[in-house]
Amino acid sequence: MHPDVASVLLDEATIAAKVREMAARISADYRAQDLMVVGILKGGTIFCADLLRCITVNCTLDFMAISSYGAASKSTGVHRINLDLEGPLLGRNVLLVEDIVDTGLTLRFLKEYLMQRNPASLRVAVLLDKPSRRQVDVQVDYKGFEIPDEFVVGYGLDFASKYRNLPDICILKSEIYSGK
Ligand code: IMP
Repeated sequence: MHPDVASVLLDEATIAAKVREMAARISADYRAQDLMVVGILKGGTIFCADLLRCITVNCTLDFMAISSYGAASKSTGVHRINLDLEGPLLGRNVLLVEDIVDTGLTLRFLKEYLMQRNPASLRVAVLLDKPSRRQVDVQVDYKGFEIPDEFVVGYGLDFASKYRNLPDICILKSEIYSGK
């Protein structure tokens, strides 16, 4: 185990089984329809790649990158788009793929932004949910795991740009992100 990690919350095999289950539901729901998957850089990349490989309907893939102003481990609700989608959303079935919903501010921002582009439909797939931290109500259509209020890293999730490569989802030692 990485020395900065306190414990493993979700191991590789548990994550893989959940991703397959989510992809099966998505594939059934979009049966005979085309899907546009929108992954959110960078935290959602590994989840998005694994999910995509298990989805069986025709789909395209695009990415957005956003950053939120403020402290590294907190969401402020003020966002900047660093990379926008290449193509139009008009009339398309869009599935937004995010790593984690915490306060809900990022997801609310993204949903409002994408809805302005008039997709035929917009749904959200999120691997992790920290319900105890929610500040705004935002609907998630496909959810992987509900997790406790702990700062997690690995499987794409970072702290200060590190730990994304860990294959498990791990609870980071609090002294790492509190700086004590
Ligand atoms: P929200 O706007 O508070 O819902 O936060 C969503 C974003 O905060 C995610 O896309 C992550 O980038 C980041 N985030 C929230 N909690 C964690 C965590 O436990 N580990 C890593 N990143 C997190």
